[in-house]
Amino acid sequence: MRWQLMVKALLGSAFMGLLMLLVNQQWGSWMSSMDSSLSSQKAPSEDPLVLSSRKYEWETQTPHPLDLRYPYPYPFLINHPDKCGGLRDAPFLLILVMSKPQDVGIRQVIRQTWGNETLVPGVVIRCLFVLGLPQPLFAQKLQDVLEEEDKEHGDLLQVGFLDTYRNLTLKVLMGLEWMAQYCPTARYVLKVDSDVFLNPIFLVQQILQPNRPLKLNFITGHIFRNSTPMRTQGDKWYMPPELYPKNMYPDYCAGLGYVMSGSLALRILTEAQRVKAIYLEDVFVGLCLQQLGVKPTPSPPNTFLIFWRKYDHCTFDRLVLVHHFQHQELLRIWPDFLRANTNC
Ligand SMILES: *[C@@H]1O[C@H](CO)[C@@H](O)[C@H](O)[C@H]1NC(C)=O
Ligand SMILES: *[C@@H]1O[C@H](CO)[C@@H](O)[C@H](O)[C@H]1NC(C)=O
Repeated sequence: MRWQLMVKALLGSAFMGLLMLLVNQQWGSWMSSMDSSLSSQKAPSEDPLVLSSRKYEWETQTPHPLDLRYPYPYPFLINHPDKCGGLRDAPFLLILVMSKPQDVGIRQVIRQTWGNETLVPGVVIRCLFVLGLPQPLFAQKLQDVLEEEDKEHGDLLQVGFLDTYRNLTLKVLMGLEWMAQYCPTARYVLKVDSDVFLNPIFLVQQILQPNRPLKLNFITGHIFRNSTPMRTQGDKWYMPPELYPKNMYPDYCAGLGYVMSGSLALRILTEAQRVKAIYLEDVFVGLCLQQLGVKPTPSPPNTFLIFWRKYDHCTFDRLVLVHHFQHQELLRIWPDFLRANTNC
């Protein structure tokens, strides 16, 4: 009886082996026909998508300390979805002030001076302070202060990334993302730093001109042309060749403040999803503009000052921005600035 079983088993396994062999052969020829049809579609290794995702993998494995994580779904932690008042009351000008969590006093000065939304008669202005997360050491205390401040003024926009100079590009882009989501019909958008003197009256009446047709593809400020990346390590604007290998930047508007049409702001944001983000936000906006084929529009001479200038009523009446302006000084000169001066 036993040998009968053994013969059966042997025959059985031989049969199975034969079956497997056949299946294997079929499978193999089927696979190789797939292979040849794939390779006839030509050189998948030259696909730019494949290359860029490989580059992305490398970057996530060994991120450069100056590299930015973008696009990325950072949350709005303090938000005002209704700040723009819906689509019908679209503001003429949306001001996005780049602010640091700890700069509570500076924000207060800005609210009392150029951040006042009712400064320019007949024009709807909305002003928001964009900030990130405080340094972990002070986080909880400062967060409580920020929430109190926001309860009182309702003008903070806090985004969930660490607030550092090297993350400024994220701040600007998240400001634009907020605009795209909650204020897409704003006519113009101003990105401005918080250490400036701003003359919103001159900006609105002389540069943007509410009575004229909307300017399309419009962005202006102090334009830097033919500037080259800083390659000295330790420099404030150091740009490692690994992150930006070219030896020249495109034309761009200096970061202290630039104003653009709302529609262009939205196009910049779309382009920013494709252009590799670099930490110099003004250069990065320039790179997006270059991709869009848009050139910055020159502003009237001496209206966007990248260096500090001593206050003088008649000069400040006819300019938009002055960089490196102390907030105590701003508070001091503001009443005089608002006073009509007939001697100019
Ligand atoms: C803003 O300006 C208006 C008048 O132009 C003034 O009544 C108001 O007090 C100002 N707001 C702040 C916060 O200073
Ligand atoms: C930018 O923010 C991210 C997210 O909070 C953080 O992990 C990173 O360290 C920050 N980068 C720099 C250069 O500060």
